[in-house]
Amino acid sequence: MSAPARWAPHLAEFRADPYPFYAALRAADPVHRVDDWSVVLTRYDDVHRVLRDPGYSRDIESSSARPVDDDPITARRRQRRGTDEEANAAKSILNLDPPDHTRLRRLVTQAFTPRAIDQLRAATETMVDDILDTAAERGSMELIDELAFPVPFRVISTMLDMPMDRADDMRDWSQALTATLEPTATLDDFDAADAAIEQLIPHLVEVIEHRRHNLGDDVVSALITAEEEGDRLSLPELISFVVLLYVAGHETTVNLIGNGMLALLENPDEMQRWRSDPTLDKVAVDELLRFNGPVQQTVRVPMTPVTFAGTDGTEIHVDAGQAVITCLGAANHDPAVFADPARLQLDRPNAHRHMSFASGIHYCLGASLAKMEATVTLSRIIRRFDTIEQAEPASWRDRLTIRGVDRLVMNLG
Ligand code: HEM
Repeated sequence: MSAPARWAPHLAEFRADPYPFYAALRAADPVHRVDDWSVVLTRYDDVHRVLRDPGYSRDIESSSARPVDDDPITARRRQRRGTDEEANAAKSILNLDPPDHTRLRRLVTQAFTPRAIDQLRAATETMVDDILDTAAERGSMELIDELAFPVPFRVISTMLDMPMDRADDMRDWSQALTATLEPTATLDDFDAADAAIEQLIPHLVEVIEHRRHNLGDDVVSALITAEEEGDRLSLPELISFVVLLYVAGHETTVNLIGNGMLALLENPDEMQRWRSDPTLDKVAVDELLRFNGPVQQTVRVPMTPVTFAGTDGTEIHVDAGQAVITCLGAANHDPAVFADPARLQLDRPNAHRHMSFASGIHYCLGASLAKMEATVTLSRIIRRFDTIEQAEPASWRDRLTIRGVDRLVMNLG
């Protein structure tokens, strides 16, 4: 299918399948001006370079030159992320530039090393097997509610040693918060996110206060200790860190498992190849991340004017303070890097070069964790059942920034 070279997240057909639009943009207008304040990049090399360039800020609200009163959504975004000094203290690591970013990231890196994650593997396997036992008895399962959500949620709750009794609330709150990341977010979405925050924060404060007197070897205890020892982490910083770990720690992984399973169902030969070849366990999930990643785009703001190469030797200038949308999904399907990009090829030799975890200093902290969870989950489903069939068409959550299947019913035999 060919599509017009348009950046059109407000169109349902764009959100349903953005890849033909990305391909058209990349070919005709790879540095595409969206409006006076933003451009979108669809070439792998441009995306990669921008994400690794220290001349760009991730502190979008503070670095943006877009006038606050330009439109009500911009005003709300700024208000939420905070531009005053008090709110600054509560910005999450994702929205900070060095040196604050470096300081916060150092505090948790240890907990997310591949070695630390490997220690969670056995517990994850047991969790998945228990769920599959129940599904086997029934002969069917709805993947998202029964497996793709509970597994990452329980794993991150274990890492943070958080109570699991508010799982449904956490899921709703997290959905409300991530809705504001969408390019199509409305004022109602911001109201819903504010309402979620109002409930979420007291819940977390309660947990953190309790933990202060009951320190363990979990990530929250480590952050509290860092806070108390060197006054390096304020309570608002601690809270926003925990919120980010919680939200980033399951929402995206749910989509990796959901989108990944759907890709396998739609490519039964590849599913069969993985089932019978355990050497693919190390690489298959990288290709699934490339093929249909859970995060389609992120943003950077250049701190000085920058220039990109357009088509036919043209130069495209972007002023300091404008938004540069780096389209990760488009980079992942750039034929200049990934041959025949629309084809799922689980042993693709360079699949690990995908941009689904971004690149540079904000490279996803949870990458090893997410890959371990998805590898364990998907490999165990396909090896447990000889026959796995979709019982009905999958339904997608109508979102672009964090994009994923929200219902996938399978018959298992
Ligand atoms: C498949 C699952 C996941 C995907 C696709 C994903 C994707 C991403 C991306 C694209 C970024 C960078 C955003 C940017 O540069 O603007 C990011 C950052 C981050 N992710 Fe993930 N993520 C996933 C799972 C996780 C998990 C499981 C955790 C933690 C438990 C996590 C924690 C974080 C954190 C803390 C950051 C901010 C890092 C920083 O700013 O230095 N993510 N993730």
